Amino acid sequence: MESMKGFRRTHDCNTVTEETIGQEVTLMGWVLRRRDHGGLIFIDLRDRKGITQVVFAPEVDAESHEKAHRLRSEYVIAVRGKIRTRPDGMENPKLKTGMVELACEDLRILNTAATPPFPLDEEEEVAENLRLKYRYIDLRRPHMVENITLRHSVCQAMREFLNSNDFLEIETPMLTRSTPEGARDYLVPSRVNAGKFYALPQSPQIYKQILMIAGMERYYQIVRCFRDEDLRADRQPEFTQLDLEMSFIDEEQIMELMEGLISHVFNKTLGVELATPFERLTYQEAMERFGTDRPDVRFGMELVDISDIAAGCGLKVFQSITASGGIVKAINARGMADLSRKDLDVLTEFAQGLGAKGLAWVKVKEDGSWQSPIAKFFTNEEQQAIADRLGGEPGDIFFFGADTRATVFRVLGELRCKLARERNLIHERFRFVWVTDFPLVEYDEDEGRFTAMHHPFTAPAEEDLDLLETDPAAVRSRAYDIVLNGIEIGGGSIRIHQPAVQERVFRALSISDQEAQDKFGFLLEALGSGAPPHGGLAFGLDRLVMLMAGRDSIRDVIAFPKTQKAQCLMAHAPAEVSMAQLAELYLKPDWKKEK
Ligand code: AMO
Ligand code: AMP
Repeated sequence: MESMKGFRRTHDCNTVTEETIGQEVTLMGWVLRRRDHGGLIFIDLRDRKGITQVVFAPEVDAESHEKAHRLRSEYVIAVRGKIRTRPDGMENPKLKTGMVELACEDLRILNTAATPPFPLDEEEEVAENLRLKYRYIDLRRPHMVENITLRHSVCQAMREFLNSNDFLEIETPMLTRSTPEGARDYLVPSRVNAGKFYALPQSPQIYKQILMIAGMERYYQIVRCFRDEDLRADRQPEFTQLDLEMSFIDEEQIMELMEGLISHVFNKTLGVELATPFERLTYQEAMERFGTDRPDVRFGMELVDISDIAAGCGLKVFQSITASGGIVKAINARGMADLSRKDLDVLTEFAQGLGAKGLAWVKVKEDGSWQSPIAKFFTNEEQQAIADRLGGEPGDIFFFGADTRATVFRVLGELRCKLARERNLIHERFRFVWVTDFPLVEYDEDEGRFTAMHHPFTAPAEEDLDLLETDPAAVRSRAYDIVLNGIEIGGGSIRIHQPAVQERVFRALSISDQEAQDKFGFLLEALGSGAPPHGGLAFGLDRLVMLMAGRDSIRDVIAFPKTQKAQCLMAHAPAEVSMAQLAELYLKPDWKKEK
């Protein structure tokens, strides 16, 4: 192995372009590939910024040409030489450095490398477990470098905007106590407090409110949050928020400022101009029209209620469902009547997977009549009324969901997204929508009580305050979510700043006064010490960057993500610990056996 001595990098692999022709440069990086052309050896040299072709020719430097025979993929090298134009026909217009090459006069092999477990050329499909195990190799791939670089730029642009709007960046503790964001906590045993545990923060929620009470007025933090929950493509056990909070503001001001922030970030990092203000939907509207509180509004196929018509029709399931308090809704998949029997079977299975009992469909024929197994259960008038409501035209296909509200929303909401994806109905790159007027609470069947829809510190709408004791389910909150392309990228609310209101909300959530004192006594006390009206929001940074990078998984924009089983395949976390460590923490070593 050779040393770097006497070598100093002068350029990156993407900065040797036509302007550097004739100059002597020194590059350092990794061998992406090597091609032996008899007398000449070519390599593609890669660093974080790009790729440069290096030529080893015996007539330029016999020694480095000889050494270059030993180069293999991912060897680490330094090369010195002159930049020259590539010979005619050898140009690569796809590369920024594709018109030039470096004629090597001096080569240092700084390190060798084991054969990589997968090729690094562009976006070769590689099993994700392999990528995660050899993350250091995976991260060398150009598209991963791009993702990580974009994430960096997004964070910088966020800081830039917030700093210029008078926000203070303040850190909050990682070793803290449980914050109720609705997931399970990650616990950390305390060695010096036998039998006691810290919780890693699910979010800095309480601390940021305390910072407002402490007079900080505008706070932000790019912060790690920990939630022990079931994982999906857009969920990690530890993830990052851009968390912020402001005093003396209302929801209008927050939404306006956040639109400014997002516009700045998109402009600075992607050069994309977003139109503001973003569209707004109430929770009610979002659910009724799109079946979800995170609607993808880039295409139509909205849910249309036909419960009134279904109630009187001849189809037994529709009748009985409406009679027992359920609903019937339909979507019109325009021009998709060409779906085959087999396609429809697949869609029916998809719906059943989401809890549907079936998926009735109707194809509208050229003369407007219905082709459908359920056509005979509807009179001509009923058929006409349904078609009118759905704006049906020949060539369309209607899908029906009959069930409880929740099931109909879920099934048709997901179905419209699936059809839109499969039929390429989505053309817009970025579409934001605010969802407002969430209910304050929702009923949790398992727990037999109301739980906070957002979190227990969210302010109720002032005009609904009187319903808190009599009809909690009807109380609207001052919460808002921001949704991008059908994915929730952020959420927040105006908070309760009066201890009396906070106590009433705790009671509505069946949190006893004693429990409220035990868990949140410090917050109630702080609220009583002169708390300003305040509110805020947190963006899911991973999700935002994922969407900006055009990826399907947040794992692609996190340097070291965990698997669906919450494991780090590279470092092998979580791992067993020694008996001695357990004893020191007052933990019983054999719980696993007992369980
Ligand atoms: P919330 O729980 O809605 O609000 O979280 C804010 C945003 O964080 C993202 N997010 C996640 N991203 C990846 N993996 C996860 N497991 C995960 N969970 C949430 C989502 C979400 O919109 N304290 C409040 C904010 C506030 O009220 O100001 C909070 O944490 O994009
Ligand atoms: P059946 O009367 O069970 O033969 O169903 C007739 C058609 O209605 C079939 O295409 C079923 O898939 C569909 N279907 C049955 N139950 C439901 C339901 N709850 N919602 C929507 N479609 C249904």
